[in-house]
Amino acid sequence: MNIRKPFTAIIGAGQVGATTAQRILEKGLSDVVLFDVVPGMPQGKALDLMEAAPIEGHDRHIAGTNDYKDIAGAEIVVITAGLPRKPGMTREDLLRVNAKIIREVCDNVKLRAPESKLIVVTNPLDIMTHLAFKVTGFPERRVFGMAGVLDTARMRFFIADKLDMVSRDVDAVVLGGHGDLMVPVSSRSRAGEKIVRELIPEVELSGIEQRTRDGGAEIVALLKTGSAFYAPASSVCEMVKAILKNEKKILPVCARLNGEFGLRDIYFGVPAQLGKNGIEKIFEIPLADDEKKALLLSADKVRQGIQEVDRLGL
Ligand code: APR
Repeated sequence: MNIRKPFTAIIGAGQVGATTAQRILEKGLSDVVLFDVVPGMPQGKALDLMEAAPIEGHDRHIAGTNDYKDIAGAEIVVITAGLPRKPGMTREDLLRVNAKIIREVCDNVKLRAPESKLIVVTNPLDIMTHLAFKVTGFPERRVFGMAGVLDTARMRFFIADKLDMVSRDVDAVVLGGHGDLMVPVSSRSRAGEKIVRELIPEVELSGIEQRTRDGGAEIVALLKTGSAFYAPASSVCEMVKAILKNEKKILPVCARLNGEFGLRDIYFGVPAQLGKNGIEKIFEIPLADDEKKALLLSADKVRQGIQEVDRLGL
């Protein structure tokens, strides 16, 4: 299959990877190279997706591969390789196994696609993104993670559902690490023209905030095997679009901080502008005191994870 530049390479052709590929193709964003270590699997999924093209009516190409040489020249590399969370497993439980996979993937990305922008999806997200930054040695504007787009989408849906609105008309802000201590920022979340705090009683709103924090676990518990992939794939696709179309759109992104929000040398969920260079700018927003406190707590948790990676020599 002839792959045309600029193209997106997706490492890991599982649920999130393959669904992301499907969305990128069907939205006509770019051609896709789909990589996995399992022989035949990415090739089979790629062929299946190409056979849908005459019906879906797009003219994008996708190729499946088990050879890293095929990702050479990728504009964007999306990393979904890894083990998904199983019921009862915390994100932190995944640390050891996924750190090893991220190392292997990033060594190959560094070699084959040294000019690419890297979107990390593998959990635990903030720590895996930090590891990808370390292993590739890429500039920090080209290494970032997908979490906030998903967390805010979940919160937007929960708010819209509560208010009987369409989620398009709801804006939510979620900052911090992609874990149990993420920080839904209700003081900045809006439905229509109104601040959500004016529309939803405090106790119900804190229920929505908690459901947002537990968003991944809620789906894991329902599915029994595997974890969420439709909304994660939509979220990655939104970031891919912002980069390929040089939209300079502000999205919640897991980005490396250099003093923003009082934090440094840490990958953390913040509002950032995405364009052709990757992260173009990070935006600080004013926070209520309780939100500031929660953010620091979340940062401590991410730091602990990073220290654990260093201590274990992962
Ligand atoms: N290199 C490339 N691919 C790998 C490697 C590796 N070293 N190890 C595993 N994979 C592949 C698997 O073969 C599998 O096809 O990664 C894919 C993961 O797919 P799924 O198991 O379906 O997991 P998925 O639901 O897609 O989640 C992937 O995203 O949201 C996160 O927590 C989730 O970390 C998990 C990741």
